[in-house]
Amino acid sequence: MADLPVGEKIYGALEKSSWIRRMFEVGTALKKEHGEENVFDLTLGNPDLDPPLEFFDTIAALIQERKKGAHGYMPNAGYPDVLDTVGRLVSATHGVEVGGRSIVMTCGAAGGLNVVFKTILDPGDEVIVPRPYFAEYGAYIDNHGGRMVTVDTAADFSLDVDAIDAAMTARTRAVLINTPNNPTGKLYREAELAALGALIDARAGTTRPVYLIADEPYREIVYDGLEAPPILKQCRQSIVVTSYSKSLSIPGERIGYIAVNPSCAGADTLMAGLIMCNRILGFVNAPALMQRAVAALATARVNTQAYTKRRDLICDGLEYAGYRFDRPEGAFYVFCKSPIPDDVAFVQHLQRYNILTVPGVGFGGPGHFRICYCVPESVITRAIPRFKEALDTLPKGTANS
Ligand SMILES: Cc1ncc(COP(=O)(O)O)c(C=O)c1O
Repeated sequence: MADLPVGEKIYGALEKSSWIRRMFEVGTALKKEHGEENVFDLTLGNPDLDPPLEFFDTIAALIQERKKGAHGYMPNAGYPDVLDTVGRLVSATHGVEVGGRSIVMTCGAAGGLNVVFKTILDPGDEVIVPRPYFAEYGAYIDNHGGRMVTVDTAADFSLDVDAIDAAMTARTRAVLINTPNNPTGKLYREAELAALGALIDARAGTTRPVYLIADEPYREIVYDGLEAPPILKQCRQSIVVTSYSKSLSIPGERIGYIAVNPSCAGADTLMAGLIMCNRILGFVNAPALMQRAVAALATARVNTQAYTKRRDLICDGLEYAGYRFDRPEGAFYVFCKSPIPDDVAFVQHLQRYNILTVPGVGFGGPGHFRICYCVPESVITRAIPRFKEALDTLPKGTANS
């Protein structure tokens, strides 16, 4: 091991994830052989919709201002006026009065989650995560010495609050939820959030504070008239982490925020810790131009109707082809049951039909595979017959009933 060019831990992680790289290589080879347009790449949650027009206008206007110091350092939490604007928005969404002093602007939700874990975790602390889960969570928690403890969700992927309760130990520091969910498309309802919030708040005073962390970059992408319920209202010990990556289709710009419930225990110290960790993790502060842009665009949204149309196209097509899944209520993923028990083998089978998807095992949801439908409608329409062929050509008797 002495001659490793990288640390042993990262070397181990690279080895463990080498199958993901192999799948990526297969995809690249397929595109080379058949042409990009004949390969249906449904792997990545990279929104293909353009940002709303106001985004471009706002950026252009901000650049034109040529305001002195507008590209310099600032307080590590962000520009005070931006924090106030975001605080007002969070108050309206989450039913709790949140001032700018409870907000930290971050480099996306990924940056925000790392800041939160750096701030609250001691080595060996546990973070409970319902499964299936966003595949990066394990790394984010481990980055800061924590341990991810996963618990099952119910059959329809809703929260199993009793299972979360049973998983709590003296080392539990947080419960991390993601709603609407990547990869399942599930939107948690007010009642289950209230039950989870009550469970966490009931521990106040009996142990070190335990936090409910809600990762919600897909809050605005919901279907069928559903609305994502407020989080902060349901739990005093709550922290929301989110970004504009999906709501404005700007994941490359790395802008999001952390909002802390002002009534959580030791809120001032928690805020001081978060602000310091934003700095010492090397983010220093969230991008200046983007902070000013998102504050000016407080209510702008990408065209979510386009996602609704894609959701319906892919779901109707998959149903017709004979696949089984729960229709997503939010985000832009279908977490489909694998027709054979081995989801990695089925994803490899789909590759023979030029369809690229991700096996559920990577999300802690074996027996499923994830289809991402933030791709043009024409890709979905052309992929459906290939999905059908892939299912129809499975050897008889191998498909799950
Ligand atoms: C559930 C979830 N959380 C966090 C992120 C990170 O998003 P970002 O850092 O771009 O805000 C993603 C990205 O796909 C995600 O799906």
